Amino acid sequence: MTQTARAQGVSNPLRDERDRRLPKIAGPAGLVIFGITGDLARRKLLPAVYDLANRGLLPPSFALTGFARRDWSLEEFTGKVRDAVVRGARTPFDERTWEQLASGLRFVSGNFDDDDAFDRLAQTVRTLDQQRGTQGNHAFYLSVPPKAFPAVLSQLARSGLSESEPGSWRRVVVEKPFGHNLKSAIELDAVISRVFPPESVFRIDHYLGKETVQNLLALRFANELFEPIWNAHHVDHVQITMAEDIGIGSRAGYYDGIGAARDVIQNHLLQLLALTAMEEPLNFEAAALRAEKIKVLSAVRVPRDIDRHTARGQYAAGWQGGQFVQGFLEEEGMSPGSTTETYAAMRVDIDTRRWAGVPFYLRAGKRLGRRVTEIAVVFKRAPHLPFEHSQTSELGHNALVIRVQPDEGVTLKFGAKIPGTSMEIRDVTMDFGYGHAFTENSPEAYERLILDVLLGEPPLFPQQREVELSWQILDPILEHWSGRPIERYRPGTWGPPSADAMMAADGREWRRP
Ligand code: BG6
Repeated sequence: MTQTARAQGVSNPLRDERDRRLPKIAGPAGLVIFGITGDLARRKLLPAVYDLANRGLLPPSFALTGFARRDWSLEEFTGKVRDAVVRGARTPFDERTWEQLASGLRFVSGNFDDDDAFDRLAQTVRTLDQQRGTQGNHAFYLSVPPKAFPAVLSQLARSGLSESEPGSWRRVVVEKPFGHNLKSAIELDAVISRVFPPESVFRIDHYLGKETVQNLLALRFANELFEPIWNAHHVDHVQITMAEDIGIGSRAGYYDGIGAARDVIQNHLLQLLALTAMEEPLNFEAAALRAEKIKVLSAVRVPRDIDRHTARGQYAAGWQGGQFVQGFLEEEGMSPGSTTETYAAMRVDIDTRRWAGVPFYLRAGKRLGRRVTEIAVVFKRAPHLPFEHSQTSELGHNALVIRVQPDEGVTLKFGAKIPGTSMEIRDVTMDFGYGHAFTENSPEAYERLILDVLLGEPPLFPQQREVELSWQILDPILEHWSGRPIERYRPGTWGPPSADAMMAADGREWRRP
């Protein structure tokens, strides 16, 4: 670009700002992370920030400030960040990227009720604006338990940190759990919205940042193949599974009293359901997407007979993959006799013309057979089979399976003739694997989401109404479960016997992915 063109603000003709294929690069900004010493920051947030920097998606002026109780010097903090990056980054460690990132690191030590500490944070942010060029743009990431939200938010308001000057922005990023039930979700939102307007609040549901979840929109709406059969005429039911082989590890403090339904069904699985079941949005802007998600979530109906159509369980001690693992109740920090579930399954229906009579089965659990997250759209059988029964006895339902992780991809299951002289039909699969089709590795969900926060792009962040609708779906089930005895299941299996019973009651079976 010539000097004159730049001076006149003419953009580079080789870089059309509207071209969505070009990588979007964040403008000048700073990110303050509360809870920087926590597990999430160490394992996900810090490596994601580094990976963004390494991909050239952060501006040179970018600054990252950690806020925590620890009495660390900047050198100690820098060392911790470096460790987290070396351990967790997806892209190779590059000394130049690191030096650039490290030059923008700051650390403020203090408690959430400490006015001085927040005044020091405000001063740090002002200095970054003047000396590093963050230009008044700052995001505050609350990677802390929700009970700490009121204190942090009122400090952000008191110290003036939540206020932006004209032409700059302040945003807040909140991690789930967004409340414990509908009532507390509304209260929590009231606390947040006293300090930040709705357009400045970014609620993280990291599943929405996953490539394969976004691919669901491409699969459904960029193709002619699937949408005509994506309805009650052809679909028998849908199974959405989020299985993990790990236990709760050292997260008893968080998980006890929360359980699988609140931990992942309220957010990740209901978001997957919304994207699978919603109507075509007008476009992929936040407002249009939310409108469709809200419509479909509003149409979700929980079965009346909750005992029959839901299941929950707790992993017991036992052998898993050649290793003896302890049961949930024996995990460090668990309260004795806890009835928190580590497995939850439920049937919901969607009262729309498209989905009338098509159950959606959701299940999530820890210490299951393997780690897999998938959406399986299971089709009805052909209305007529011009074969002898014995020829099709091994033919199952056709299914389209979207594998969110691992081995991200899509599998189509259908019947094919077994080679030979007789007409015998068996299920076969046709596979699309991201790893085979593309040379690029998928970015981590947090890379995408942190970048979107800095860019101010809201489509991948659930809105308060979606959060409330999700609680509205779960609350009756959680209330019903509360205080009832809970089943145990063996680690490495697919959950408690009641999970199979709930499917059998509908004449169906869970997939064994
Ligand atoms: C988190 C849950 O939201 O998702 C955890 O709190 C769970 O319990 C995690 O382990 C799984 O995330 P991913 O991206 O590994 O599927």
